[in-house]
Amino acid sequence: AEGDAAKGEKEFSKCKACHSIIAPDGTEIVKGAKVGPNLYGVVGRTAGTYPEFKYKDSIIALGETGFAWTEEEIAEYVKDPAKFLKAKLDDKKAKSGMAFKLAKGGEDVAAYLASVAQ
Ligand code: HEM
Repeated sequence: AEGDAAKGEKEFSKCKACHSIIAPDGTEIVKGAKVGPNLYGVVGRTAGTYPEFKYKDSIIALGETGFAWTEEEIAEYVKDPAKFLKAKLDDKKAKSGMAFKLAKGGEDVAAYLASVAQ
């Protein structure tokens, strides 16, 4: 399903507890926490590669397979990050550093993330 970026912008208030959105020129589009990586330009970015962020091993391993984020994959990931990594890596021991699950509206948040970085 196509996401609604306007709805996703509101939903992003939940993500701000851990993520900021900072443009390459330093503009803080969303001033959030930095517990998680900067999500500016995450659509199209290889998983686990935001510079200097200390990711857990599993998401780095996913990026090493050549996996880059699409809106669809982000919508799926946020429902249950650990489950997503286990499935993608075919590894029951995969772990996520993101201790948060968004039950619904993932496609809206993904559409919002795509819309802020164009
Ligand atoms: C990673 C999205 C909420 C903490 C990520 C990634 C995405 C994402 C797409 C992968 C980034 C990359 O590969 O560079 C979101 C969205 C959220 C949300 C859309 C809201 C719906 C949160 C919350 C927390 C959090 C609330 C903290 C409790 C993290 C951390 C990582 C991460 C620590 C790195 C994961 C790892 O190393 O395995 N998030 N996130 N996120 N997020 Fe979130």
